[in-house]
Amino acid sequence: MNVLVLTGSARSGSYTRALGQQIAAATGGALAGSLTELPYFDQDLEPTPPAVVEELRAQVAAADALVVVTPEYNGTISGLLGNAIDWLSRPYAGGPAALEGKPVAAVAASPGAVGGVRALVSLRTVLGNAGAQLLDTTVSVGEVHSRLEDGELELAELVEALATPVLQAA
Ligand SMILES: Cc1cc2nc3c(=O)[nH]c(=O)nc-3n(C[C@H](O)[C@H](O)[C@H](O)COP(=O)(O)O)c2cc1C
Repeated sequence: MNVLVLTGSARSGSYTRALGQQIAAATGGALAGSLTELPYFDQDLEPTPPAVVEELRAQVAAADALVVVTPEYNGTISGLLGNAIDWLSRPYAGGPAALEGKPVAAVAASPGAVGGVRALVSLRTVLGNAGAQLLDTTVSVGEVHSRLEDGELELAELVEALATPVLQAA
């Protein structure tokens, strides 16, 4: 059973990453490496993808299930995460993309009250278009900063609700 958690913020104190770490712990999974190492997606690079791209693709291909955690930037997913999904959605022809058929749970988090629900909609759209098998369970975490600081129990319940279908899919 191998659950991989991708998180979409570069910020050192990222709430999204902290949430992803808790989800990884709850599912016995691991956090993927920083997406900041990936170059901007460029079709010209596709014939010989950079090593960091190949490594991430291999990690995703080896995972039984993915959890993708996005912050909400201007009502959608972060560019950092979108870039990674673009890489993982290819190659389009000549081999299955890493995301093709992969069970994926979509998660969004925000310090705002509504928890990044707009980003969650975008994330599901993009992952679905990239060929992932979206799990029904979606999670959006509002006021994530205070819940991480004070609401361990609440977050634990939330993570458990997510972990069950992820583990079932794995
Ligand atoms: C460019 C930018 C756009 C943002 N847009 C939104 C938004 O649309 N909705 C929202 O709830 N928060 C928005 N925020 C605030 C982020 O939710 C907040 O910075 C959050 O901490 C980012 O996630 P992180 O803690 O994982 O880095 C935005 C932040 C930035 C930097």
